[in-house]
Amino acid sequence: MANGSNERGRFGQLGFIFAAVGSAIGLGNIWKFPYITYANDGGSFVLVYLVAIALIGLPIMMAELVIGRRTRQSPVGAFIDAAKGRLGGRAWGAVGALGVLGSFILLSYYALIAGWTVYYFGQCLSWSVRGFDLEGQALGEAFGGFLANGPLQVGFHALFMLVTVGVVTLGVRRGIERVTKLLMPVLGAILLLLVVNSFWSPGFGEAIRFLFHVGPVTGHGLLEAVGHAFFTLSVGMGAMLTYGSYMTSRQSIPRSAVTICFLDTLIAIMACVVMFSIIFSVSAAERAATFGKSATILFTTLPRMFYEMPLGVVLAPTFYLLVGFAALTSTISLLEVVAAYLIDQRGLSRRKASLLAGGAVFAFGIPSALSLGASGALSTLAPLGERTAGFFDTMDYTVSNWVLPLGGLLTAIFVGWFFSRRASSQELAEGHGDVGRWYFVWRGVLLRFVCPVAILWIIWAVIGGRSFA
Ligand code: TRP
Repeated sequence: MANGSNERGRFGQLGFIFAAVGSAIGLGNIWKFPYITYANDGGSFVLVYLVAIALIGLPIMMAELVIGRRTRQSPVGAFIDAAKGRLGGRAWGAVGALGVLGSFILLSYYALIAGWTVYYFGQCLSWSVRGFDLEGQALGEAFGGFLANGPLQVGFHALFMLVTVGVVTLGVRRGIERVTKLLMPVLGAILLLLVVNSFWSPGFGEAIRFLFHVGPVTGHGLLEAVGHAFFTLSVGMGAMLTYGSYMTSRQSIPRSAVTICFLDTLIAIMACVVMFSIIFSVSAAERAATFGKSATILFTTLPRMFYEMPLGVVLAPTFYLLVGFAALTSTISLLEVVAAYLIDQRGLSRRKASLLAGGAVFAFGIPSALSLGASGALSTLAPLGERTAGFFDTMDYTVSNWVLPLGGLLTAIFVGWFFSRRASSQELAEGHGDVGRWYFVWRGVLLRFVCPVAILWIIWAVIGGRSFA
């Protein structure tokens, strides 16, 4: 639209992979996946999750990349362009708009959590130097105190947004590609180091058994596994579509998507091995007493466990640095979705677009930052009923349970039923060669039937009052 394609950025082939893998790997892998796996009793839950990645996440990721690269537009323009002359026409632009809005909201609290990792990195550095002196309860209380500290919450949120804006301002190649190419190998190396270190931990054997044993999965576990497949792969809200719009035509979409899914899953499993080796090193009784099955173990119990390990003084800060890096390459992709919309559809310069988008996201994140104890009213607010408590929770519930599944559903239906068959098969073959009957499996089976049915089931369950955020 406003800008010709020659003004848009373009990733190098490896750059695209790093950027997309960087988007996919984030707090979802290192924070959320281990704790939902723990809460769902490991084993079979992991298996369901793997199936969801392959049958739902992967095909929808390919669909997003196809639309993005075909149209070379950010989500809103992309859907409008792709739907030209098709049933529904411009109305499909709403799917893109939903993605932009969802990315905006997700980023507003994702960057907040990311800020915690920066704070804990600093904390660990000082513990490593001064010595760790907190007893059991105190760590949890310290975390609670940190959450309830409004200025600190807003401050670290601001810091994380500032860095994100800086990278996005530098552009596709000089910013996003360069930073992800630097950070992702570092992240991989740190995680590998932690995994190797866990081989010697007394909980290692138990951790592996827990991850791969076969046991029952609850209905809620199924729901959570499918929902998480969207979140962890960054699909459903136009992030992969936007990155796809910067992808070269010489690169294979199927091969790239498989690589991204594989690496994302590998890192998630590695994060589990590290976390569970630590968790299973303590006795079952102590485990039950200290963790429950809570989401906050990363900040409330992990530091103490690190400092009880050999080399803990090095490993603890290193670990939070890793999580921070993983989060940064994800916040970059979320801001890029919003910025690219402002650039493509509203004609703003990249600089103005990233500043404006980043500033607005920061402002919108303030009520979330204050809803963790700092402000009584924001912390207890429950517009959606008692399922969610507080502004932060309400936003997370809305995005994870509604925007992501809905965006994924509409994307699958669009490419499966509405988007030109010729265009999608051409785009899939571009840079790859003929995909043969895989095309039918992808579009005719997975996008047309398997994905919509699975996602409608999620939405139906959410309407019925379940949530998996
Ligand atoms: N995939 C990231 C994670 O696992 C989060 C994320 C980044 C995301 N960009 C996204 C999720 C776009 C959905 C849509 O932490």
